[in-house]
Amino acid sequence: MRELDPSVIGQDGSIQNFMRDIEDHARLSNGFVIELGSGLGTGSTYAIQRGLQGHPDALHFSIDLLDRMIWKPDTKGWKLLIGDSRSEASIGQVAPDKARYPGLIFVDTVHTYAQLLSELKVWEAVAGLETVWLFHDTYMHGTRNTDMIRAIEEHIKATGWVYDDYRTEAHGLGRMSWKRGIPFPDRRTFEATKPSEAKPTKPAEPKPPEPKPAEPKPKPPEPKPVEKPPEKPAAKPAEKLPKKDHLWKRKPH
Ligand SMILES: C[S@@+](CC[C@H](N)C(=O)[O-])C[C@H]1O[C@@H](n2cnc3c(N)ncnc32)[C@H](O)[C@@H]1O
Repeated sequence: MRELDPSVIGQDGSIQNFMRDIEDHARLSNGFVIELGSGLGTGSTYAIQRGLQGHPDALHFSIDLLDRMIWKPDTKGWKLLIGDSRSEASIGQVAPDKARYPGLIFVDTVHTYAQLLSELKVWEAVAGLETVWLFHDTYMHGTRNTDMIRAIEEHIKATGWVYDDYRTEAHGLGRMSWKRGIPFPDRRTFEATKPSEAKPTKPAEPKPPEPKPAEPKPKPPEPKPVEKPPEKPAAKPAEKLPKKDHLWKRKPH
């Protein structure tokens, strides 16, 4: 790794006193780091790169609105993404590595409530159980940066994220991590395993034979046409009967 002149290290973002912490968090991470706000590259970018040195699978995305860098890593696993950290489109740019989730998300852009709340919402989508977030500038002029803390507290309520004021010296370094014992919700766009570690999927079991379409039920035999009794021969014309009057008319006694 290209070394930097000590006189410029961490000067731009007043981050010099936390470079060692950032470096250690990168070293202890899973090797995948997302950095929001890289600036000149001489602060957090440099510290993260130092931490990732020798990592077998190092991957580092630096995201900034502009390319202001005067120092750029020369390592294969580093990439500068020009984009807005509040936009979901920036997530799309780290999508080539869908198979991993970041071990560290470092945030150092604009330190307002609205900005941080947006960033938390956007980058939460790629975070995983082991993701540690570091926020620069959470302690300004000896007091908590209430704008930033309010955004973090609002974001983490009713989730398993926990926040601590990791360092309170100027200008503060806040940290957020997932509380052990609380299952991480399955709402990530990234999977938790690297492709190389992914368990081979079981070969698909042979499908049971498709059920045969039900054979058509034999039709009940058509009812035989009822045979009509042979037509009676036409009745003979009735014989002329004697008047019937006598049958019902009582005879007078
Ligand atoms: C304080 S500087 C970062 C310093 C750097 N982390 C260091 O350690 O030296 C803040 C950076 O955030 C960038 N920035 C501000 N708003 C941003 C946004 N919405 N998206 C991405 N980058 C942003 C700025 O361009 C600037 O380079």
